[in-house]
Amino acid sequence: MQEVDKTTLPLEVSKVIFGEDEIQEAVKRIGEQITQDYAGQKVLLVTVLKGAFIFMADLVRAIKGDVEIDFMAVSSYGDGSKSSGVVRIIKDLNASVEGRHVIIVEDILDSGLTLTYLLRNLKSRKPLSIEVATLLFKEGKQQANIRCKYIGLMCPDEFVVGYGLDYNESYRNLPYIGALDASAYEQ
Ligand code: IMP
Ligand code: MG
Repeated sequence: MQEVDKTTLPLEVSKVIFGEDEIQEAVKRIGEQITQDYAGQKVLLVTVLKGAFIFMADLVRAIKGDVEIDFMAVSSYGDGSKSSGVVRIIKDLNASVEGRHVIIVEDILDSGLTLTYLLRNLKSRKPLSIEVATLLFKEGKQQANIRCKYIGLMCPDEFVVGYGLDYNESYRNLPYIGALDASAYEQ
């Protein structure tokens, strides 16, 4: 674990889980894998807003080749720190995915409920292929059996924030990923 000056942590962030260097190494590795796997082919990265926006911005620059990006926003009903599995599309893709190689770019795979919904939805639009790239994979949590081809980092089962991930819309701007102190959300 990378050392971060504790005095600069927001009060509610109890510890740093992944430092900036560790995150960048993981992003670079996924970028190289995607570059190899899709050599000579155009790939469409579908980013799930808002949590994956920073990961996407770094990932797209780590891929060498022909890449397009598009955005989707979904909301899963539930409280601030748990997903309910009932998903609503807030913003749909601009372009059609039919006949294209698609990679869904996610911030974190927790229960997998959001992604299960998204995969089913996008598969019905007849892409040529569809894969998932997630920066974080929460250990021991996947309820749904999701085949996730690209995984950045295995994440302990804690509520994490930073590098795009939020708690009630805050902390997205932290350059590292940290654990949110349970007292900040268990009340
Ligand atoms: P899932 O449906 O439980 O897999 O979670 C879906 C979404 O919930 C993720 O894409 C995140 O946006 C959010 N989420 C899940 N776990 C965390 C966390 O530890 N910190 C911040 N957001 C999370
Ligand atoms: Mg989110």
